[in-house]
Amino acid sequence: MSEPTALVALRGVSYAYEDGPVVLSGLDFDVREGRALALLGRNGSGKTTLMRLLSGGLRPDDGRLTVAGTPVTYDRKGLTRLRTTVQLVVQDPDDQLFAASVAQDVSFGPLNLGLPDAEVRARVDEALTALDITALADRPTHLLSYGQRKRTAIAGAVAMRPRVLILDEPTAGLDPDGQERLLATLDGLRASGTTVVMATHDVDLALRWADDAALLTPGGVRTGAAPAMLARTDLLQQAGLRLPWGVAAAQFLRAHGLLDDASPGPRDAEALAALATAPSPAEG
Ligand SMILES: Nc1ncnc2c1ncn2[C@@H]1O[C@H](COP(=O)(O)OP(=O)(O)O)[C@@H](O)[C@H]1O
Ligand SMILES: [Mg+2]
Repeated sequence: MSEPTALVALRGVSYAYEDGPVVLSGLDFDVREGRALALLGRNGSGKTTLMRLLSGGLRPDDGRLTVAGTPVTYDRKGLTRLRTTVQLVVQDPDDQLFAASVAQDVSFGPLNLGLPDAEVRARVDEALTALDITALADRPTHLLSYGQRKRTAIAGAVAMRPRVLILDEPTAGLDPDGQERLLATLDGLRASGTTVVMATHDVDLALRWADDAALLTPGGVRTGAAPAMLARTDLLQQAGLRLPWGVAAAQFLRAHGLLDDASPGPRDAEALAALATAPSPAEG
């Protein structure tokens, strides 16, 4: 059987900023429906650029963006259609929020689609609930904490009911509790059928969260199952990233005969604890 068509894809895409260096060249990139995808690369490697190309905010110099195999057109109609499929949450919520209150901000996208008032209200309620910020609906956005502003920005994207939600460095600037809440929210969105993509340079987060990992290196992008990709020392080095500690722990355990080759390594602290208390392979 052939590979299913990617929901959103870049084909042979090149991009350079005006008066800037070529950031991406001849790049192929697939977002597969239902797979949690982490896009990894060092600072300046082009993650944000790639995400803006995927969401139509930047137009490729060369190559094309497709949705379900159909090339996106960059006119009003094409971009509106793209926005109902793909939503990008930028890294800094202050670049995204502008309305007076949380509910007003979240309603902006659905209102812009020309939806009836009742539909807009239903979407706003749904998005505020998904992000657990219903109590903040009437709060002026300038009185919110950073984490609350971040959740409001995500709610604005969720209210568009996109099939693909792309988040640029969503955990940056969040405290550990904020990070856990965000991951729980993303799990909820995934369970309701949204495909979630995040850009990050946090390899431990990617190992724990992602089904697939895409490593952005100067040679291009390589995508595969997260546990396998994140054990590729060569690619991680090219991407300017280190080995996730879960992978390093698995290598240590295998070297000491405490984990057999077939068993997957731990993806988080709980999985490591479970391995430590399980009988070792030598004991059967
Ligand atoms: N608006 C811009 N104008 C010119 N160069 C830019 C702009 N935005 C990003 N760049 C450059 O493009 C490259 C990729 O940046 P970016 O996509 O932001 O990477 P990342 O998100 O991985 O940190 C960097 O060299 C950066 O300096
Ligand atoms: Mg970036």
